[in-house]
Amino acid sequence: MLTRLDLQKMKDNQEKITMVTAYDYPSAKTAEVAGIDTVLVGDSLGMVVLGYDSTIQVTVDDMIHHGKAVKRGAPNTFVVVDMPFMSYHISIEESLTNAREIFQQTNAQALKIEGATEETLLLIKRLTEAGIPVVAHLGLTPQTVNVLGGFKVQGKDRAAAAKLLTDAQQVAEHGAISVVLECVPKELAQIITEKIDIPTIGIGAGIECDGQVLVYHDILKYGVDRLPKFAKPYADFNEKGTDAVKAYIEDVKDKTFPLDAYSFLIKDKEILPNK
Ligand code: KIV
Repeated sequence: MLTRLDLQKMKDNQEKITMVTAYDYPSAKTAEVAGIDTVLVGDSLGMVVLGYDSTIQVTVDDMIHHGKAVKRGAPNTFVVVDMPFMSYHISIEESLTNAREIFQQTNAQALKIEGATEETLLLIKRLTEAGIPVVAHLGLTPQTVNVLGGFKVQGKDRAAAAKLLTDAQQVAEHGAISVVLECVPKELAQIITEKIDIPTIGIGAGIECDGQVLVYHDILKYGVDRLPKFAKPYADFNEKGTDAVKAYIEDVKDKTFPLDAYSFLIKDKEILPNK
Protein backbone atom coordinates (compact mmCIF):
# COMPACT_ATOMS: atom_id res chain seq x y z
CA MET A 1 0.00 0.00 0.00
CA LEU A 2 1.21 3.53 -0.77
CA THR A 3 1.91 5.78 2.19
CA ARG A 4 1.62 9.55 2.49
CA LEU A 5 5.39 9.69 1.87
CA ASP A 6 4.92 7.89 -1.46
CA LEU A 7 2.26 10.46 -2.42
CA GLN A 8 4.66 13.24 -1.48
CA LYS A 9 7.41 11.60 -3.55
CA MET A 10 5.04 11.47 -6.51
CA LYS A 11 4.59 15.23 -6.30
CA ASP A 12 8.31 15.75 -5.92
CA ASN A 13 8.98 13.52 -8.96
CA GLN A 14 6.11 15.09 -10.94
CA GLU A 15 4.29 11.77 -11.21
CA LYS A 16 0.53 12.32 -11.25
CA ILE A 17 -1.52 10.93 -8.37
CA THR A 18 -4.81 9.18 -9.20
CA MET A 19 -7.77 9.19 -6.85
CA VAL A 20 -11.34 8.02 -7.35
CA THR A 21 -14.25 7.96 -4.96
CA ALA A 22 -15.70 4.65 -3.84
CA TYR A 23 -18.63 4.03 -1.55
CA ASP A 24 -18.97 0.27 -1.27
CA TYR A 25 -17.17 -3.06 -1.64
CA PRO A 26 -17.51 -3.49 -5.44
CA SER A 27 -16.55 0.08 -6.38
CA ALA A 28 -13.52 -0.10 -4.06
CA LYS A 29 -12.52 -3.49 -5.42
CA THR A 30 -12.79 -2.25 -9.01
CA ALA A 31 -10.65 0.78 -8.19
CA GLU A 32 -7.97 -1.32 -6.49
CA VAL A 33 -7.87 -3.94 -9.25
CA ALA A 34 -7.56 -1.12 -11.82
CA GLY A 35 -4.49 0.14 -9.96
CA ILE A 36 -5.69 3.45 -8.52
CA ASP A 37 -3.25 5.24 -6.18
CA THR A 38 -5.82 6.41 -3.62
CA VAL A 39 -9.52 6.00 -2.93
CA LEU A 40 -11.75 8.63 -1.36
CA VAL A 41 -14.85 7.65 0.54
CA GLY A 42 -16.43 11.00 -0.24
CA ASP A 43 -19.49 12.34 1.51
CA SER A 44 -20.72 12.76 -2.07
CA LEU A 45 -22.08 9.31 -1.28
CA GLY A 46 -25.10 11.21 0.04
CA MET A 47 -25.91 12.36 -3.47
CA VAL A 48 -24.45 9.55 -5.53
CA VAL A 49 -25.62 6.45 -3.71
CA LEU A 50 -28.20 7.65 -1.17
CA GLY A 51 -30.09 10.02 -3.48
CA TYR A 52 -29.94 13.19 -1.35
CA ASP A 53 -29.66 16.55 -3.10
CA SER A 54 -26.51 17.56 -1.19
CA THR A 55 -23.94 16.16 1.23
CA ILE A 56 -25.55 17.89 4.23
CA GLN A 57 -27.61 14.88 5.34
CA VAL A 58 -24.65 12.52 5.54
CA THR A 59 -23.75 11.38 9.07
CA VAL A 60 -20.70 10.01 10.87
CA ASP A 61 -22.41 6.59 10.96
CA ASP A 62 -22.94 6.73 7.18
CA MET A 63 -19.24 7.43 6.65
CA ILE A 64 -18.23 4.59 8.96
CA HIS A 65 -20.65 2.15 7.32
CA HIS A 66 -19.45 2.96 3.80
CA GLY A 67 -15.80 3.43 4.82
CA LYS A 68 -15.66 -0.09 6.27
CA ALA A 69 -17.11 -1.58 3.10
CA VAL A 70 -14.61 0.34 0.97
CA LYS A 71 -11.68 -0.81 3.07
CA ARG A 72 -12.87 -4.42 2.71
CA GLY A 73 -12.95 -3.95 -1.06
CA ALA A 74 -9.61 -2.14 -1.29
CA PRO A 75 -7.51 -3.45 1.61
CA ASN A 76 -4.23 -2.56 -0.11
CA THR A 77 -5.09 0.98 -1.18
CA PHE A 78 -4.53 4.32 0.57
CA VAL A 79 -8.08 5.22 1.61
CA VAL A 80 -9.21 8.68 2.65
CA VAL A 81 -12.58 9.10 4.40
CA ASP A 82 -14.54 12.36 4.55
CA MET A 83 -15.62 13.81 7.88
CA PRO A 84 -19.25 14.77 7.16
CA PHE A 85 -21.22 17.97 7.69
CA MET A 86 -21.01 19.48 11.20
CA SER A 87 -19.01 16.55 12.55
CA TYR A 88 -16.00 18.86 13.10
CA HIS A 89 -17.50 22.25 13.91
CA ILE A 90 -19.14 22.07 17.33
CA SER A 91 -16.08 21.76 19.57
CA ILE A 92 -12.54 20.50 19.26
CA GLU A 93 -13.40 17.63 21.64
CA GLU A 94 -16.37 16.52 19.56
CA SER A 95 -14.33 16.85 16.35
CA LEU A 96 -11.52 14.71 17.76
CA THR A 97 -14.00 12.11 19.02
CA ASN A 98 -15.72 11.89 15.64
CA ALA A 99 -12.36 11.70 13.86
CA ARG A 100 -11.23 8.91 16.17
CA GLU A 101 -14.43 6.95 15.54
CA ILE A 102 -14.20 7.26 11.77
CA PHE A 103 -10.45 6.58 11.61
CA GLN A 104 -10.44 3.62 14.00
CA GLN A 105 -13.56 1.94 12.71
CA THR A 106 -12.86 2.27 8.98
CA ASN A 107 -9.14 1.55 9.19
CA ALA A 108 -8.60 4.41 6.73
CA GLN A 109 -5.21 5.97 6.01
CA ALA A 110 -6.39 9.60 6.28
CA LEU A 111 -9.44 11.78 6.88
CA LYS A 112 -10.56 14.72 4.74
CA ILE A 113 -12.02 17.95 6.06
CA GLU A 114 -13.27 21.02 4.22
CA GLY A 115 -12.17 24.63 4.67
CA ALA A 116 -9.40 26.57 6.37
CA THR A 117 -11.04 28.47 9.21
CA GLU A 118 -9.09 29.01 12.41
CA GLU A 119 -10.91 26.04 13.98
CA THR A 120 -10.27 23.80 10.99
CA LEU A 121 -6.57 24.67 10.97
CA LEU A 122 -6.34 23.87 14.67
CA LEU A 123 -8.10 20.57 14.04
CA ILE A 124 -5.68 19.68 11.24
CA LYS A 125 -2.82 20.31 13.67
CA ARG A 126 -4.40 18.34 16.53
CA LEU A 127 -5.32 15.38 14.34
CA THR A 128 -1.85 15.28 12.81
CA GLU A 129 -0.28 15.38 16.28
CA ALA A 130 -2.61 12.57 17.35
CA GLY A 131 -1.53 10.43 14.37
CA ILE A 132 -4.39 11.00 11.94
CA PRO A 133 -3.21 12.29 8.55
CA VAL A 134 -5.49 14.97 7.13
CA VAL A 135 -6.35 15.79 3.53
CA ALA A 136 -7.71 19.33 3.25
CA HIS A 137 -10.42 20.40 0.79
CA LEU A 138 -10.58 23.95 -0.60
CA GLY A 139 -12.36 25.83 -3.38
CA LEU A 140 -15.90 24.59 -3.79
CA THR A 141 -16.56 22.95 -0.45
CA PRO A 142 -19.90 21.14 -0.87
CA GLN A 143 -20.72 21.13 2.86
CA THR A 144 -20.99 24.93 2.72
CA VAL A 145 -22.89 25.02 -0.57
CA ASN A 146 -25.73 26.98 1.02
CA VAL A 147 -23.34 29.69 2.16
CA LEU A 148 -21.49 29.72 -1.15
CA GLY A 149 -24.83 30.10 -2.96
CA GLY A 150 -24.56 27.00 -5.12
CA PHE A 151 -22.10 24.64 -6.76
CA LYS A 152 -19.99 27.37 -8.37
CA VAL A 153 -16.38 27.86 -9.46
CA GLN A 154 -14.39 29.54 -6.66
CA GLY A 155 -11.44 31.96 -6.60
CA LYS A 156 -12.70 34.02 -9.51
CA ASP A 157 -11.78 37.50 -8.27
CA ARG A 158 -8.49 38.88 -6.96
CA ALA A 159 -9.43 38.69 -3.27
CA ALA A 160 -10.91 35.20 -3.53
CA ALA A 161 -7.90 33.94 -5.51
CA ALA A 162 -5.47 35.37 -2.95
CA LYS A 163 -7.48 33.85 -0.11
CA LEU A 164 -7.47 30.42 -1.73
CA LEU A 165 -3.68 30.55 -2.02
CA THR A 166 -3.30 31.66 1.61
CA ASP A 167 -5.72 28.93 2.74
CA ALA A 168 -3.73 26.30 0.85
CA GLN A 169 -0.50 27.52 2.44
CA GLN A 170 -2.15 27.50 5.86
CA VAL A 171 -3.49 23.95 5.65
CA ALA A 172 -0.05 22.79 4.52
CA GLU A 173 1.63 24.63 7.39
CA HIS A 174 -0.76 23.07 9.89
CA GLY A 175 0.15 19.57 8.74
CA ALA A 176 -2.26 18.55 5.97
CA ILE A 177 -0.70 15.82 3.81
CA SER A 178 -2.50 16.90 0.66
CA VAL A 179 -5.21 19.29 -0.48
CA VAL A 180 -8.18 18.71 -2.77
CA LEU A 181 -8.92 21.75 -4.95
CA GLU A 182 -12.48 21.65 -6.25
CA CYS A 183 -13.81 23.93 -9.02
CA VAL A 184 -10.86 26.30 -9.07
CA PRO A 185 -9.69 28.01 -12.26
CA LYS A 186 -6.84 26.07 -13.83
CA GLU A 187 -4.37 28.96 -13.69
CA LEU A 188 -4.97 29.55 -9.99
CA ALA A 189 -4.70 25.82 -9.21
CA GLN A 190 -1.37 25.81 -11.02
CA ILE A 191 -0.02 28.66 -8.89
CA ILE A 192 -1.21 26.96 -5.69
CA THR A 193 0.36 23.68 -6.83
CA GLU A 194 3.67 25.39 -7.45
CA LYS A 195 3.63 27.39 -4.21
CA ILE A 196 2.84 24.66 -1.71
CA ASP A 197 4.93 21.61 -0.90
CA ILE A 198 2.11 19.10 -0.38
CA PRO A 199 0.30 17.44 -3.32
CA THR A 200 -2.78 19.14 -4.77
CA ILE A 201 -5.53 16.83 -6.01
CA GLY A 202 -7.81 18.59 -8.47
CA ILE A 203 -11.44 18.09 -9.37
CA GLY A 204 -12.45 20.71 -11.88
CA ALA A 205 -9.12 22.44 -11.21
CA GLY A 206 -7.17 21.71 -14.39
CA ILE A 207 -4.32 19.53 -15.46
CA GLU A 208 -1.55 21.24 -13.49
CA CYS A 209 -2.62 19.81 -10.14
CA ASP A 210 -0.39 17.06 -8.77
CA GLY A 211 -3.24 14.59 -9.04
CA GLN A 212 -6.86 14.20 -10.05
CA VAL A 213 -9.96 12.87 -8.35
CA LEU A 214 -13.27 11.99 -9.97
CA VAL A 215 -16.47 10.50 -8.64
CA TYR A 216 -16.70 6.79 -9.50
CA HIS A 217 -20.27 7.09 -10.75
CA ASP A 218 -19.31 10.01 -13.03
CA ILE A 219 -16.46 8.01 -14.60
CA LEU A 220 -18.86 5.15 -15.30
CA LYS A 221 -21.93 7.34 -15.98
CA TYR A 222 -23.75 5.15 -13.51
CA GLY A 223 -26.94 6.36 -11.83
CA VAL A 224 -26.19 10.00 -12.63
CA ASP A 225 -28.35 11.97 -15.06
CA ARG A 226 -26.20 15.08 -15.51
CA LEU A 227 -22.43 15.17 -15.30
CA PRO A 228 -20.60 18.28 -14.08
CA LYS A 229 -18.49 20.05 -16.73
CA PHE A 230 -15.25 18.67 -15.28
CA ALA A 231 -16.30 15.01 -15.25
CA LYS A 232 -15.26 12.88 -18.19
CA PRO A 233 -17.29 9.67 -18.55
CA TYR A 234 -15.22 6.64 -19.57
CA ALA A 235 -18.21 4.29 -19.93
CA ASP A 236 -22.00 4.45 -20.03
CA PHE A 237 -23.30 2.13 -17.35
CA ASN A 238 -26.71 3.87 -17.37
CA GLU A 239 -27.31 2.67 -20.90
CA LYS A 240 -25.63 -0.71 -20.48
CA GLY A 241 -27.38 -1.32 -17.15
CA THR A 242 -30.83 -0.38 -18.44
CA ASP A 243 -30.33 -2.52 -21.55
CA ALA A 244 -29.27 -5.48 -19.41
CA VAL A 245 -32.25 -5.21 -17.05
CA LYS A 246 -34.62 -4.76 -20.03
CA ALA A 247 -33.20 -7.91 -21.64
CA TYR A 248 -33.67 -9.81 -18.38
CA ILE A 249 -37.30 -8.64 -18.07
CA GLU A 250 -37.94 -9.71 -21.65
CA ASP A 251 -36.41 -13.16 -21.09
CA VAL A 252 -38.54 -13.77 -18.00
CA LYS A 253 -41.72 -12.59 -19.72
CA ASP A 254 -40.87 -14.70 -22.81
CA LYS A 255 -40.09 -17.71 -20.63
CA THR A 256 -36.55 -17.94 -22.00
CA PHE A 257 -34.95 -17.44 -18.60
CA PRO A 258 -33.95 -19.51 -16.74
CA LEU A 259 -33.26 -22.29 -19.23
CA ASP A 260 -31.67 -25.49 -17.97
CA ALA A 261 -28.18 -23.98 -18.14
CA TYR A 262 -29.19 -21.75 -15.23
CA SER A 263 -31.19 -24.38 -13.30
CA PHE A 264 -30.42 -27.23 -10.92
CA LEU A 265 -31.53 -30.57 -12.41
CA ILE A 266 -32.20 -33.81 -10.67
CA LYS A 267 -30.73 -36.99 -12.20
CA ASP A 268 -32.97 -39.55 -10.53
CA LYS A 269 -36.51 -38.49 -11.33
CA GLU A 270 -37.75 -41.38 -9.18
CA ILE A 271 -37.10 -39.48 -6.01
CA LEU A 272 -39.56 -36.78 -6.93
CA PRO A 273 -42.98 -36.68 -5.30
CA ASN A 274 -45.93 -37.26 -7.60
CA LYS A 275 -47.24 -34.19 -9.37
O1 KIV B 1 -17.16 13.90 -1.48
C1 KIV B 1 -16.46 13.86 -2.50
O2 KIV B 1 -16.65 13.02 -3.40
C2 KIV B 1 -15.38 14.80 -2.64
C3 KIV B 1 -14.74 14.90 -3.98
C4 KIV B 1 -15.63 15.65 -4.89
C5 KIV B 1 -13.40 15.48 -3.90
O3 KIV B 1 -15.09 15.50 -1.72
